[in-house]
Amino acid sequence: MIFSFEGIDGCGKTTQVARLAERLEDAGYDVLRVREPGGTDLGEAVRDLLLDTRRDIHDMAEMLLFSAARAQLVTERIVPHVQSGGVVVCDRFFDSTVAYQGGGRRVADVAWLYDFQRRVTAGVEPDRTYLVRVPVDVAATRLSGRIAATGRDRMEHADRDFWVRTSEAYDRLAERAAQRYRVVDGTRPVDDIARAIWSDAKELTN
Ligand code: TYD
Repeated sequence: MIFSFEGIDGCGKTTQVARLAERLEDAGYDVLRVREPGGTDLGEAVRDLLLDTRRDIHDMAEMLLFSAARAQLVTERIVPHVQSGGVVVCDRFFDSTVAYQGGGRRVADVAWLYDFQRRVTAGVEPDRTYLVRVPVDVAATRLSGRIAATGRDRMEHADRDFWVRTSEAYDRLAERAAQRYRVVDGTRPVDDIARAIWSDAKELTN
């Protein structure tokens, strides 16, 4: 069983990833929690490249680097964990590339990119994806606190239009892949969101 969390920067999904992972562990599941890009030696090295503000990365190269990190993560960690009966909770998965590089950067046609991602993961896809949805301006306000403390990473230098396009791409994905998607309102209190997600996830794992 694979769960993934998606949403624009500042939507609050990482808190929800932690909550779901804890609930699943408490329920006795063997949980692997991974973040993208990252989760493997290679993936963490690629993450450093991608988020380094000093680096000038062409949009197509960016898309391929995110995909390379993902291919490694799937083979090295996700597939073995699922095969041994465990549950995987992913903080971002291939929909991030479709939304950010396809919608945000407009690097390639979204339908093509989606298809390409199926090849990157050799057909592995989440059983459930939670889209934590917040208006772009709410996300930007939340993010500004973190940026004040730690600075912007390379992705966070994008302009407002980029975030609008990325957010819209997520909405379209949630419509097109409605069976595996659940959209949650990220402006609600953290505990309410966590409760709604757990009640859905519990059903699915039973
Ligand atoms: P991170 O600090 O992990 O952000 P977040 O907590 O929002 O996940 O940085 C990851 C950044 O990379 C984030 O801006 C989203 C972006 N990203 C892509 O553009 N494409 C992708 O395929 C992935 C996985 C992430």
